This record gives sequence, C-alpha cells and structure tokens, in this order.
Amino acid sequence: MAGSSQQGELVDVEDKLVEVVEWEGREYQKYSLAREINLSPCDQDEADRLEKQHFFLKDLLTGEEWPRNHRLFPAAATHAHDFLDLGFGTGLWCAEVGSYDTRFRVVGIDITSHMAIDDNPPNVELELQNLNEELMLSDLNSFDFVRLSFVSGGISRQRWPGLLSDIFNKALRPGGIVQSMEWDLHFRSDSDAEASLSNLREWTRLYTTALSSSERHEGRKIHRVEDIEDFMRAARFEVSSKVIDVPIGGWPNDRRSKAIGTKNFENMSSLLETIATYVVVSRRICSLEDFKDLIENAKTELGNDEAELYMRLHIVWGKKAA
Ligand SMILES: C[S@@+](CC[C@H](N)C(=O)[O-])C[C@H]1O[C@@H](n2cnc3c(N)ncnc32)[C@H](O)[C@@H]1O
Repeated sequence: MAGSSQQGELVDVEDKLVEVVEWEGREYQKYSLAREINLSPCDQDEADRLEKQHFFLKDLLTGEEWPRNHRLFPAAATHAHDFLDLGFGTGLWCAEVGSYDTRFRVVGIDITSHMAIDDNPPNVELELQNLNEELMLSDLNSFDFVRLSFVSGGISRQRWPGLLSDIFNKALRPGGIVQSMEWDLHFRSDSDAEASLSNLREWTRLYTTALSSSERHEGRKIHRVEDIEDFMRAARFEVSSKVIDVPIGGWPNDRRSKAIGTKNFENMSSLLETIATYVVVSRRICSLEDFKDLIENAKTELGNDEAELYMRLHIVWGKKAA
C-alpha cells in the first residue's frame, strides 16, 4: 500500500503497519488501534494461540465435508486451484495449502504480518491490506476458494455486506466458494451447572457490548456470528452452514473429543484475555482491574469439568453460482 502524509510527502504505508505499541504486557499494531481495526495483540503469544487453534481445529474437522488427507478446505472445494485467505494471521493455513500442492496459487491478506511465519512455499504470496476498505486484487475473479477465519473482531459491522460483495464480484470465479468460520463466544453447558458460569456469562456480555460501542463506524463490530450467514445471502451467495459444539476441557468420554476439549481449554483460557481486554477496557465498559479479576474467575469456571462446557463453532459456506 502507498499513500501520502499530511505534509504531502509520499510515505510507504507499509512502514506504518510495522509499528507496534505495548499495552499491559502485550504488543498491538499501532495502525490498527488508531483506526480501531484489529484490537487483539499481534505478538508471539497470540501467534502461538492461533497456531495451536489451527491444529486442533484440523483434528475437529472430520466427516465427509473434510478430506482426510489435509482437512484444510472442504471437499466441496476439491477442484480448487487458487486460494485466498482473508486475515491470514500466522499464515500457517496458506503455507500448508501451498505445500499440499505446489501447483496451487495461494494469496493471503491481513492488516499485519507480525504473526506470520517466515517460511512460505514459493506459491504463497502474503499482502497487507485493510479488509474494511475495498478489496484490491491484481487478478479479478481468479479464486476458487476464499477463507475468512476468526476475523469478525476486525471487520466493521457496516463493512460486512461490502466485503462479501467484493468476494462475490471481484474475488471468486463462478462456482467458487467462500467459507467463514467463527466462535459464537457463548459458553454453553447442558448440565445443571448453569449457575456456576456467571463470570463466563459476564465476560461474554462485556465483550459483546464493547464490540458494538465505538464512536467510529470502523470500530463497531458484529456480536452475533449468525449475521454472517444473512450477509452472505444478501451478497447473492447460495448459503449452507454447519454448527459444531466444541468441548472445552477434558470432560468428554471419547478419546478424540477429550483431546480436542483439552486443547480448547488452553485456547479459551488464553482467548478470554487476548481478544477482549483491550476493547473492553479502552471503551470503558469495565476497569482494567475489574476485568482482570473477572477473567481470573472465568478461568476457574472454565476448568470446572462438571459443567461440561462447550462453545459453538459456526461454519458458513457461500457458493457463487456457476
Ligand atoms: C484471530 S486472527 C485469525 C487468523 C487466522 N485466520 C486463523 O484462523 O488463525 C484474525 C486475523 O485477522 C486480521 N484482521 C482482522 N481485521 C482485519 C482487517 N480489517 N483487515 C485485515 N486483516 C484483519 C488480524 O490482523 C488477524 O491476523
């Protein structure tokens, strides 16, 4: 990206994307905070969380929708050749898709490359762009599969329809598929332990309140992941979806679910702090001290296996008619 400074002097906007600020022991992208884009840290701890989440989600995605040999994209995209990952994070998915078949073309776009792994196969290209602005692509309608995973914290509410229209009109070939994957951020229990989840419930309430309470359009995010399905329909996609209840903790009896739940417990313990602290505190929904206390109590609730906690993972596919 290139742009001009207020003094009229040409500056490379990419330089601005490099600057980080430290806040409460975590590193954030300065550019993102100033414009209320990605309000989560972009440091090594967050990269580690995303990497672990990436791996246990691959363990989770089984069945006929997910080819056993890679579990990177659904069987419906088996004939895909050109892949676009919007909000690549660590870039691990791009690297794995690129390595899976070196004839593939993989493009990743993110506002920051701070968490990106260094080693990428030559068929992977990572670019910096703000997805809250019009999508810029060098080749129009040249992708078969577009991935949007866990980006809802950085996409403004008012941008969603435009982003999905851009994917439909500019990114995908006819017959191509966009896939969104998001946690619904509600801690659920089917046991009698409802009452013991009060801190987790309060965490969700504060976080979702914070997501929508910005003075700026760009700062206001969706807090109902179900909205994405409606936005896809409005953008003329043929929509299908799947909701997976993902355990949190080692409470399930079967070995596979127990292993996933154990890894997800670690993931959720970290996520409570990572995605919410800056947005809740900077928007004055709660003081830092009180929010830290709440997170500690919520983590204790998270570790209560008797509650048999789980969270819903929403996967939505949109197909552009052939
Ligand atoms: C929670 S991470 C998920 C990363 C990756 N998709 C994954 O599943 O591991 C969200 C990523 O989306 C990026 N992101 C969020 N909002 C964005 C925006 N408006 N423009 C570009 N990138 C954005 C963040 O910088 C971050 O790398």
